[in-house]
Amino acid sequence: MPKQINIAPLSGALGAEIDGINLAEPLTPMVVKRIRKAFLDNQVLVFPNQQLTPKQQLAFAGRFGTTDIYPFLKSIDGVPQVIEILKTEKDTSNFGKHWHSDTTYMPKPNMGTMLYALEVPNPGGDTLFADMYRAYDTLSNGMKRLLNGVSGLYSSAQNNIGGRAEKMKELAGMKTAFVREAEPIEAFHPVIRTHPETGKKALYVNFSHTVHFEGMTREETLPILEYLTRHAVKPEFTCRVRWRKGDLVFWDNRCVQHKAINDYDGQRRRMHRVTLKGDKPF
Ligand code: SIN
Repeated sequence: MPKQINIAPLSGALGAEIDGINLAEPLTPMVVKRIRKAFLDNQVLVFPNQQLTPKQQLAFAGRFGTTDIYPFLKSIDGVPQVIEILKTEKDTSNFGKHWHSDTTYMPKPNMGTMLYALEVPNPGGDTLFADMYRAYDTLSNGMKRLLNGVSGLYSSAQNNIGGRAEKMKELAGMKTAFVREAEPIEAFHPVIRTHPETGKKALYVNFSHTVHFEGMTREETLPILEYLTRHAVKPEFTCRVRWRKGDLVFWDNRCVQHKAINDYDGQRRRMHRVTLKGDKPF
């Protein structure tokens, strides 16, 4: 039982740091409930000063849902739900560098992601997060009406990210972990989704995975998609996580996009990532 849990906001938009919880220890149902509430209220949670083995990270994740297996990368040895995100001193590219929510191309995209920092560059390698509730709320009534009821196609092969296989080849530290490139994974989802727990509406398009709106060509979709994806990540909708070794960050993919900043060539950054299964967006 923690003595005291402190929750400090990361920005005026979203995100909070939670002090006073050791995630390696078994957590009481009351603490799990408080974390869940903080997660729904803040969308991104930073837990500093953790010391977690992959199995402990997995056990913590399991308190919030069913852990998933990422289809494109081999896991670390013996723990199929944990993948390593690595940029070595030799790499010039990085994983997750374009704005996105995780696995929106799956029929049931991941509801949440937990990233745990093992090695961090100094300076650099921050992650940006953007609040998709605010992105939706600040659209004009006309744009909300236009998007109401519209679905989009989301694909793992979307060209904005240059083809996953090609991109993975650029990452010396990760290319041996790449397992799949043949069949893209694709699904249609509403471009405005309702969060199944908070009931709030969130903009759900992202430039990495959204291909086109249903019944429209890519060419017809693009001007609106470009506007929406620019609007979604306005600085006033964001927070920035400046990683320290031992941080664990837990974010809600149903109402948040993120982007890993690639500004640390020549330095190493190594993370362990666990994702949680989600529902079919509605
Ligand atoms: C990701 O896109 O899941 C990785 C984010 C990061 O490395 O900061």
